[in-house]
Amino acid sequence: MSTFQAPKGTYDLTPPRSAKFLAVREAISAPLRDSGYGYIETPGFENVELFARGVGESTDIVTKEMYTLTTKGGDQLALRPEGTASVLRAALEANLHKLGNLPVKLWYSGSYYRYERPQAGRYRHFSQVGAEAIGTEDPALDAELIILADQAYRSLGLRQFRILLNSLGDKECRPVYREALQTFLRDLDLDEETRRRIEINPLRVLDDKRADVQKQLTDAPKLRDYLCDACKAYHEEVRALLTAAGVAFEDDEKLVRGLDYYTRTTFEFVHDGLGSQSAVGGGGRYDGLSEMIGGPELPSVGWALGVDRTVLALEAEGVELDLPATTSVYAVPLGDEARRALFAVVTELRRAGIAADFAFGGRGLKGAMKSANRSGARYTLVAGERDLAEGVVQLKDMESGEQTAVPLAEAAAELAKRLG
Ligand code: HAM
Repeated sequence: MSTFQAPKGTYDLTPPRSAKFLAVREAISAPLRDSGYGYIETPGFENVELFARGVGESTDIVTKEMYTLTTKGGDQLALRPEGTASVLRAALEANLHKLGNLPVKLWYSGSYYRYERPQAGRYRHFSQVGAEAIGTEDPALDAELIILADQAYRSLGLRQFRILLNSLGDKECRPVYREALQTFLRDLDLDEETRRRIEINPLRVLDDKRADVQKQLTDAPKLRDYLCDACKAYHEEVRALLTAAGVAFEDDEKLVRGLDYYTRTTFEFVHDGLGSQSAVGGGGRYDGLSEMIGGPELPSVGWALGVDRTVLALEAEGVELDLPATTSVYAVPLGDEARRALFAVVTELRRAGIAADFAFGGRGLKGAMKSANRSGARYTLVAGERDLAEGVVQLKDMESGEQTAVPLAEAAAELAKRLG
């Protein structure tokens, strides 16, 4: 019988590389936790309607990429393709917005599913860490989120990323622009599918990667010229706050995100070492989403950073994360009596909060010492029958190579002292 493989477009995280993913999740969430964001977790699936209404009926995500299923009970569900609609749904359901403490600031970390054509950096199962600030319209909130993402990436040692920034206008000015753009696009020489897109989601046409399309778009009306005064002032304030914080960004008029809920501020973090899947993260303001899914008016802003692509970006830049060895002490028993004695020491160390591991399976000295080396432990404890007869264990400093006999009863205390 042939063995099973991970489904197409997915991959497993295994040690040692998996440690990088944990470190990335930790680094992205740390600035959020320090800035008043509380942790939220929602189910891996939702009613399909939530995403259809929230993310948008005209998006690729909803029309082509959702994993949908009908349960035996007849419920129409979808594996979550993104986090924002779910988090807002959960916040509304728990009435977090009514506790009198706006914005409701939440962060999350989890798996998301999109039925996309797999390629390097694009998977059908991927992982995001995200943040949403719900219920407040304030340019400082938009700036805060961008600054925190920048801080997270810098703390990881990433340098070759850029921040693209745009404003998509609001419900006053965007419809006017949309119509002007449609009028312009309808006169161009475009294929059938693109013509359909003009009617459903004309801004997406600006995002078309094909050169012959881009050539025709040179004189397309620009959203910037249509922004109302309120949107303009809002955007200028976001830009000024970022500049004051020393966060560099590039104005990118062509930045149209692949989800329909955005208004005003939109941004993307791109990394130049990743080829075509260069967006490591993205987000923006979504002032109308709450009403779209049946809630009250709650202007909000958020982002999600892709963990998979962030790890790829680190690898592309050759950044070695400073991952401390997870094991401090490795115990190598030689014989049954030593096994009992050292197992007890390991248990004592662990209870004292010292990371310790043990050579299981009665292995010989050579093999066990190899494992000790591989574990990265600073100290090994070795004991055989003769040591135990003398009431000692051999404590070896793996850095200096120096070995000393320590009374068995004092081994844990001695290690605790040496490890500070
Ligand atoms: P998004 O731009 O669709 O936004 O996804 C955010 C990030 O998730 C991307 O920049 C990318 O790093 C990662 N990602 C997306 N799809 C894939 C994939 N197929 N394979 C690997 N990584 C992927 C959102 O999801 C919005 N919910 C962000 C947001 C939060 N907006 C407001 N609040």
